[in-house]
Amino acid sequence: MSVSLEDARQRDRLDPLAGWKAHFELPEGVLYLDGNSLGAQPLAARQAVAGTLDQWRDELIGGWNQGWFDAPERLGRLLAPVLGAGEDEVLVTDNITLNLFKLLGYILGPGGESSQAGRGVVLSEGGNFPADGYIAEGFSHLAAHEHRVLPEGEPLESHLEGVDVVVLSQVNYRTGALRDMAATTRLVHDHGAEVIWDLAHSAGALPVALNACDVRYAVGCTYKYLNGGPGAPGFVHVRRDYQSRGWQPLSGWHGHAAPFAFAPDYAPAADLTRFRTGTHSALAYSALEASLAMWARVDMAALRDKSLALTELFRACLADVFAAHGIEDITPAPEARGSQVSLVAGEHGFAIVQALIARGVIGDYREPGLMRFGFAPLYLSHEDVWQAARHFREVVESGEYRAERFQVRSEVT
Ligand SMILES: Cc1ncc(COP(=O)(O)O)c(C=O)c1O
Repeated sequence: MSVSLEDARQRDRLDPLAGWKAHFELPEGVLYLDGNSLGAQPLAARQAVAGTLDQWRDELIGGWNQGWFDAPERLGRLLAPVLGAGEDEVLVTDNITLNLFKLLGYILGPGGESSQAGRGVVLSEGGNFPADGYIAEGFSHLAAHEHRVLPEGEPLESHLEGVDVVVLSQVNYRTGALRDMAATTRLVHDHGAEVIWDLAHSAGALPVALNACDVRYAVGCTYKYLNGGPGAPGFVHVRRDYQSRGWQPLSGWHGHAAPFAFAPDYAPAADLTRFRTGTHSALAYSALEASLAMWARVDMAALRDKSLALTELFRACLADVFAAHGIEDITPAPEARGSQVSLVAGEHGFAIVQALIARGVIGDYREPGLMRFGFAPLYLSHEDVWQAARHFREVVESGEYRAERFQVRSEVT
């Protein structure tokens, strides 16, 4: 390989983030390159969830007054600096799917920023994770708005005419391509439209600068790079001066101005808490809170440096294998990528990923033909990446992936 094992180890000795690995639990023998789907478990999460179970046992209903009820706001304050947002601009609640629906209704509904007497136009992105397009379509259908799709690869600028709201991912889930958030936000605003950013593949993967980029609306999840756990709550961001402009359509009782007044009519809370809906899982919030307490101490600039170093190391170790075996490396240039390596290997992609998983190297496969490897800088060392590349080389060069057992597909891929 073009980089030696000793060289990788030397990079680990110089790594300012090396100490974070000890804060995570990973199974022995596993090289985990799937933190872009589900992040690894922080040691502190187990203790935090156990603490909440004790609290439930001992305090019963009283727990809601001891940190359970206000968890969406409290965790939002912890998360805000990681996203470059103000303390009162992030609410941890629901998931991307629901938060996107709420924001679309908030922006296009009565009193909203792009309040529509008739039809509004929602533009989603072709090639984005389908959930966003599905919600844009479903919402538009329900509210008699028009849904358009930006064809993949075409410039946004030529599709903004007449559009009211655009839904964009900062980092594309397939290619890892990173959009210029500041320039794109400016472009959309200059066309008199709003943009909702999906941060699923950027929150915790790189420094996100919502306020510096003049972002007004964003959504994201915490179960990927932010290590909140399977099904961890998502988040919604609304810039301070945009928080009390309209109703959000899921007018749940937790978003009421006075939820425990049990008033017959709905009155939205004056601030971001109007984006709350109903009762949430105190257990899920406690796992995430343990992780976010850690994230609040992470040097995001160092994280970005390491992310780029790890993705480059993997690619450099395997460049000759890619060339010899017809594997196309579609990973964007460093400044234009998130924290993943994306490879297209045609019909063999699925089997190669399965053969790697059998060796303990966990990446994932996305139809059609795409192998994705996520690099979470907090718990991956340079040596881990070097070893993962060695396994990749062996699996491909030996043809190991051709075995029958690696062709079988499970329900979740
Ligand atoms: C870019 C992107 N958007 C939206 C979603 C859907 O998120 P959720 O299932 O949390 O609503 C995902 C899930 O992986 C995603 O990657």
